[in-house]
Amino acid sequence: MNIVVFGSGAIGSLFGALLAKQNKVVLVGRAPHIKCIQQKGLTINGKTHLTVNVPAVESTKEVFLSADLILLTVKSYDTETASNQVRPLLHDQTMVVSLQNGLDNIEKIEQNIEKKHILAGVTTHGALFSAPGTIIHTGKGKTILGELDGRPSERLNMLISIFNQAGIETQMSIDIKREIWRKAIINSSINPLTAFLGCKNGYLLENPLLEKTVEYVCTESSRIASLKGIIVSPVEMIEKTKEVIRDTAENDSSMLQSIQQGKKTEIESINGVLLRIGTEQKIDTPLNRILFELITSLCLH
Ligand code: PAF
Repeated sequence: MNIVVFGSGAIGSLFGALLAKQNKVVLVGRAPHIKCIQQKGLTINGKTHLTVNVPAVESTKEVFLSADLILLTVKSYDTETASNQVRPLLHDQTMVVSLQNGLDNIEKIEQNIEKKHILAGVTTHGALFSAPGTIIHTGKGKTILGELDGRPSERLNMLISIFNQAGIETQMSIDIKREIWRKAIINSSINPLTAFLGCKNGYLLENPLLEKTVEYVCTESSRIASLKGIIVSPVEMIEKTKEVIRDTAENDSSMLQSIQQGKKTEIESINGVLLRIGTEQKIDTPLNRILFELITSLCLH
């Protein structure tokens, strides 16, 4: 399969490297990471050990491949621009799969790309940007893919088997919107807490006070989900979040990595959306508000 990975940060590079074993992959990202990959290949350390020579470019204008799959792995604040940039690469059968954090990516993609092309996914792999050209796979997670309308399609089955063949453990969901919500609930505690405290994911369970905070945030975020008709059990979400923390204990969350690199964070698309829903529905969401305001204040420095 011809695959373009648009957004070659930690997760995009990890997926690109794994998929490149059996597919034609082109990575699209930013210098100096892309320049290093062009010179020395892409190296994955940690839970996966791999060096691949994979074509890497800085603009879609340099992609000369008919894309069967475009994997969108950019940060949620770049989704609109990214979906606009990949549009010229689409042919009638191209699948565009969002594998991103946040609750508002699909609506943003739909502004530039016809709905029939779009699928969605979530992943709980932990990956850390170590140096240009090198990624550390810090935690093995699971990946879930689905059609937006929930129907199990032939193209979805094909995609899932390609991911599994690449060693990316992947399942199908007939309710991918619910999975996106579940992932956002998980991210709503892990990401801002680790980003604000400057700690690895695992520390959230080493410190009993933080473990309690994770539980409170999960409960509040699960209640907000129910306002949108996504009925999840807070107890189950707490368990799931703790499982992800354990599996990615050695990871710096993507939000912490953004703060460390002086970049914008995905707070708007995670806690920001949750806060907005609470405000619209006149429900108090103090924990998401505090987390949102703390991270936003950090970024104002
Ligand atoms: O955003 C992240 O960092 C990841 O979604 C996860 C799974 C929380 C691992 O750090």
